[in-house]
Amino acid sequence: MTPKKPIESLTVLTDLVLPSETNPIGNMFGGELLARMDRAASIAARRHSHQIVVTASVNHVAFTRTIPLGSVVTVEAKVSRAFSTSMEIFLDVYIEDRISGKRIVANEAIYTFVAVDETGKPVPVPELIPETELEKSRYNAALRRKQLSLVLAGKMKAKDATELKALFE
Ligand SMILES: CC(C)(COP(=O)(O)OP(=O)(O)OC[C@H]1O[C@@H](n2cnc3c(N)ncnc32)[C@H](O)[C@@H]1OP(=O)(O)O)[C@@H](O)C(=O)NCCC(=O)NCCS
Repeated sequence: MTPKKPIESLTVLTDLVLPSETNPIGNMFGGELLARMDRAASIAARRHSHQIVVTASVNHVAFTRTIPLGSVVTVEAKVSRAFSTSMEIFLDVYIEDRISGKRIVANEAIYTFVAVDETGKPVPVPELIPETELEKSRYNAALRRKQLSLVLAGKMKAKDATELKALFE
């Protein structure tokens, strides 16, 4: 399989926050944002692998900023690392200042998707070659995040998480 660049999976999803998507104090529901991020990440994983993809885990979500009713929300998703059958997807979320049009960082998240065949069996995905400094740093940290996710899911023993353990040595 030909290796791919992160830019090849870039997915940009822009939409408004409607009244039905807000909480009683007029800010976007976390679950609505999670759903938008899942959709964007799923398209990015599909663009990278050209396979059916399923969400394996949500590794990290930081709701750092409230998103008010009427905001224009942009979710950008890109594959940050590909392993054998799984892909880490990094999501950056922005809102736009109505007057200046400037983008403001609202949230970020990291999802893991797995490519599967029609029976749900994991299948291989192409390697990812990072290009920019940011892509390289996200790529380099992805193995430790994968190990943490597997340890928390009970799918890996902590003693085998070598990359993760190296953080504490
Ligand atoms: C995700 C799924 C395909 C993994 O199947 P599995 O039998 O555990 O397969 P494996 O153990 O071979 O794991 C496959 C890959 O997923 C990775 N993986 C599995 N669970 C993971 C987790 N919690 N965090 C990070 N990676 C995970 C494995 O490390 C492996 O990656 P690699 O091949 O790149 O090294 C399976 O659990 C599944 O279908 N889950 C339901 C998915 C779904 O319906 N999502 C939507 C929820 S509504």
